Amino acid sequence: MPEVSELAYTADVAAATAPIYERMKRVVPAVEWPFHAPLVHAINELKRERNAVVLAHNYQTPEIFHGVADIVGDSLALAAQATRTDADVIVLAGVHFMAETAKLLNPSKTVLIPSRNAGCSLADSITAADVRLLREAHPGVPVVAYVNTSAEVKAEVDICCTSGNAVEVVESLGAERVLFLPDEYLAKYVATRTSVEIIAWTGHCEVHERFTGAEISEFRSRFDRLTVIAHPECPPDVLAAADFVGSTARMIDFVGSEKPPRVLMVTECSMSDNVAVASPETEFVRPCNLCPHMKTVTLSGILEALRTLEPRVEIAPDLAARARLAVERMLAVKPK
Ligand code: 13P
Ligand code: SF4
Repeated sequence: MPEVSELAYTADVAAATAPIYERMKRVVPAVEWPFHAPLVHAINELKRERNAVVLAHNYQTPEIFHGVADIVGDSLALAAQATRTDADVIVLAGVHFMAETAKLLNPSKTVLIPSRNAGCSLADSITAADVRLLREAHPGVPVVAYVNTSAEVKAEVDICCTSGNAVEVVESLGAERVLFLPDEYLAKYVATRTSVEIIAWTGHCEVHERFTGAEISEFRSRFDRLTVIAHPECPPDVLAAADFVGSTARMIDFVGSEKPPRVLMVTECSMSDNVAVASPETEFVRPCNLCPHMKTVTLSGILEALRTLEPRVEIAPDLAARARLAVERMLAVKPK
């Protein structure tokens, strides 16, 4: 197993990775490929040796998304796909809560997170003790937690949701009101789509909260025939100014099916690059807000994780059993 320092862009590596580069050549400059290719090649070889799969979130950079990922998707798809793999090792190219979710659903498999620093401002905005206090303040009210939470928080709630199924999950409970945590803006968006009363926590995504309605108006004035699609973690004025709101997977599906001539994706920066590969007819206007946590995952981090089988995600069994229930209940909710 080569170390990163021993890798080189040889003629063999160039030939073996040429078809992979072909897929992403519109978004990865040719001058960069000799740096990525040896890593991509080594990772793909090591995946076979380890019987490993790489699950990558839609916010991963194109060389990860198109170069080494076996499965890509939003948080919901990554959780669902994690239940279907027969690999021995899962490398989660995403943030820590996504790797924890994969581990909850695969307690006997080795789940690796290539960066110890891949956190999430939403997951950090609430603790298990906060949830217990909320329950005391609202006795009998069911608690829905966005998957962007720690396993400790998931263990305290009734059910999880993602931005792809939040309305269906809330309505599946048959309750008049629910506690919805931790994303205030997603909660407000869900409240516009259901008659269930939503009691929200006040966490925010540090990437999506930076967008403003004024910024969207400014883009519309600069680019004609602009279709604006936004992630529901954005503030309400941004969502009000958008033509379509949905999870990262639904945003991708929207571009694929509607084929808008010019699109503004109001979400993390790498999404536009990843979608542009499959949508050559669409021009992407890129407001570049990067998720600093997602961006700590790199090809060299993935290779190192596969070499050393570290860092592993471990969750205490009794905590995992409670947290798993909330995730499994979510996966049992039928999409609309
Ligand atoms: P999705 O589930 O829509 O991919 O969102 C996850 C996330 O972290 C968005 O910031
Ligand atoms: Fe968390 Fe926001 Fe990054 Fe998504 S984009 S992982 S919600 S900080």
